[in-house]
Amino acid sequence: MSGRLDWRSGPAGPLRGTLGVPGDKSVSHRALMFAALADGSSRIRGFLEGEDTRATAAVLQQLGARIETPAAGERLVHGVGLHGLRASPDPLDCGNAGTGMRLLAGLLAGQAFDSTLVGDASLSKRPMRRVTDPLAAMGARIDTQDGLPPLHIHGGQRLHGIRYELPVASAQVKSALLLAGLYAEGETEVIEPHPTRDYTERMLAAFGWPIAFEPGRAKLTGGHALRAIDVDVPADFSSAAFFLVAASIVPGSELRLPAVGLNPRRTGLLKALRLMGADIRVENQRSSGGEPVGDLVVRYAPLHGVELPEALVPDMIDEFPALFVAAAVARGDTVIRGAAELRVKESDRLAAMATGLRALGGKVDETPDGATIHGGTLAGGTVESLTDHRIAMSFAVAGLVAQAPVRINDCFHVATSFPGFMALANGCGFALAVAD
Ligand code: S3P
Repeated sequence: MSGRLDWRSGPAGPLRGTLGVPGDKSVSHRALMFAALADGSSRIRGFLEGEDTRATAAVLQQLGARIETPAAGERLVHGVGLHGLRASPDPLDCGNAGTGMRLLAGLLAGQAFDSTLVGDASLSKRPMRRVTDPLAAMGARIDTQDGLPPLHIHGGQRLHGIRYELPVASAQVKSALLLAGLYAEGETEVIEPHPTRDYTERMLAAFGWPIAFEPGRAKLTGGHALRAIDVDVPADFSSAAFFLVAASIVPGSELRLPAVGLNPRRTGLLKALRLMGADIRVENQRSSGGEPVGDLVVRYAPLHGVELPEALVPDMIDEFPALFVAAAVARGDTVIRGAAELRVKESDRLAAMATGLRALGGKVDETPDGATIHGGTLAGGTVESLTDHRIAMSFAVAGLVAQAPVRINDCFHVATSFPGFMALANGCGFALAVAD
């Protein structure tokens, strides 16, 4: 991915309409991986057509899985079986995707052949020891560049299960170990300091792999088989999040977001916004492919600041950029603690949001593991996305309520998770355009 794309988001009137947000990124990555390792063909519907998930599809194709695209948002994956992947002579490019690289590291640690995982400039700065250290404890051999990508994974290692207590709550680390555990002798058990999204566990069970799990803990043994299934991917709560905040802060707004995934490990922002006074209802709550989904209806409501309960942090880890915007225009202060992980996402999100909001006249005190955001009004100005998709989209939301337009530099990476964001946003009332 290359090129430069800046946006301009202007103040706009009430937001109205029904918005179908794209498929869930976490579920799309995992569905591809398990389908590729399964016996038989799996159809994935609602697949996220983002750069991140397409990169994972391309990697799996390079490794020998046949993947068809019968229609946009759909993949037909012809699985090769647990031991059917073959070496790629070329490096495997995960693009911008931390999820892709970390999960693939676990998957590839158990193969008979060597692989090299590479990523773009942002991914090349993200810490990988959190996966390579515990994988090494399972017997894997992975070379890093001082803990950073590229990762060179040596094949032909005998893996053995371990019991691992994660030092930080991370679904990516948990998932990498469970994927390696498929190839390990004996039992792999992962224990989390706080429960994280459990898509890997649920999906492994759905693909027929015996796994025991409960919030905060998962356990499996190697040597079984995955059987192809069809996967319906819900709409991504993290993409819906921008619209939940946007409609909450623009007077007169009402948006409906159908069939959004409501896995409780993802919906911390819903709780946080409600604590701040937001008016968000869940309608038609149902189960789809073993996941809770529902239609979200959000109406404008005046927001006030809160001390964010730390227990919510892992359940809204990707939604902090959007929350910062809500807090910046709320009445009173919002205090965030226990969120140091935000510093190692696609950008340092605490710094990116604090700096950007200040550039717009907001008042933010940054701390090592959080921030205090003093609510008020935002003026216009120029902010840097730091090539981080969620920072870019959050400032597009800020532009709606700023007193003058907000210029957001480097929005190219929005396509990693939310292709079509601009069209969808403008369709409901944003004034978002490409800047000169
Ligand atoms: C993800 C886990 C989270 C999240 C990321 C997706 C996943 O990362 O931030 O966007 O799909 O497992 P961490 O595991 O680093 O918390």
